[in-house]
Amino acid sequence: MKILLTGGAGYIGSHIAVELCNQGYEVIIGDNFSNSKPEVLNKINTIVGKEIEFHEIDFTNKEATFELFEKSNIDAVIHLAGLKAVGESCIMPIEYYRNNIVSTLNIAEAMKKYDVRNLVFSSSATVYGVPKELPLKEGMPTSCTNPYGWTKLMNEQILTDISKANPSFSVVLLRYFNPIGAHESGLIGEDPNGIPNNLMPYITRVAKGVLPELNIFGNDYPTKDGTGVRDYIHVVDLAKGHVDAIKFVETHAGIEIFNLGTGVGYSVLDIVKTFSKVNNIEIPYQIVGRRDGDVAECYADPSKAKEELGWIATKSLEDMCRDSWNFAKNN
Ligand code: WQD
Repeated sequence: MKILLTGGAGYIGSHIAVELCNQGYEVIIGDNFSNSKPEVLNKINTIVGKEIEFHEIDFTNKEATFELFEKSNIDAVIHLAGLKAVGESCIMPIEYYRNNIVSTLNIAEAMKKYDVRNLVFSSSATVYGVPKELPLKEGMPTSCTNPYGWTKLMNEQILTDISKANPSFSVVLLRYFNPIGAHESGLIGEDPNGIPNNLMPYITRVAKGVLPELNIFGNDYPTKDGTGVRDYIHVVDLAKGHVDAIKFVETHAGIEIFNLGTGVGYSVLDIVKTFSKVNNIEIPYQIVGRRDGDVAECYADPSKAKEELGWIATKSLEDMCRDSWNFAKNN
């Protein structure tokens, strides 16, 4: 099977490319390098031992998207390409809505035109908004607190409506919790441009001495130690969930939603202490004010993915911290 992986040069996409190849799938990567670098492709190729077909493409360009489908015999799509920074989305909502919505519409329209019926879409736990109860289950209410989250929720709605209008169209929406970690080779991992928004890449920059200390956004939340609690999942576990989702869409029609998380919540201080213990590196930090838009706690009930996809996260927090550092110290 030939899988088009949009955003496949990015942090999560590169790990999905590796796992798809490991399972014998033929992969085509489409990316515009808006949040990734061309050398990531070389590293993916080194890991998988062959050259993966690549097209530099912006999926908001309808003509280019149709041309890619025209010349490539695509069997299924895994769609990750999109802007993904919560804070940035509040500053530039137009770019986020245009980029994240138009790209999905173009891909869905191209799939219809070229009779490609299987789609796995990269969604996010952020669509649950401020959780009313925990752990989060797929049928729970959704709402968003930022334009980035709204683009994910709107794309979910768009794909749901397309699926209703085209019964042969098979869609899986994967709601990611907090991906961290890196491939065991240390060749690919999370390397955002500029100052990291997310916790783990910020910690690894402090560990490298690139940043002086970690700012912990609040220790007055109603959690075990007052710092924010999240469901951190190893990016390789997350990537493997996409392979299971591709197998699922091949044999189902309609649309299904799955949480991809571990079901375990860890606090910011848990991450700092585990990272220091596993890697024997002190992480200096200071407690500062809460960050706008943050929720106190967010973690998944991943049982539906286990029951229906046969997927479960297997890597520990220690694995995540060790692998994150193994990548960062080598790059
Ligand atoms: C985790 C915890 C922060 C940085 C976001 C998006 C989500 C997904 C993952 C795209 C929180 C604390 C963080 C720092 C800190 N992105 N923190 N100091 O906000 O849970 O999720 O990224 O799909 O959609 O919402 O992840 O890593 O930013 O924060 O104290 O410098 O670490 O307050 O408690 P978040 P995060």
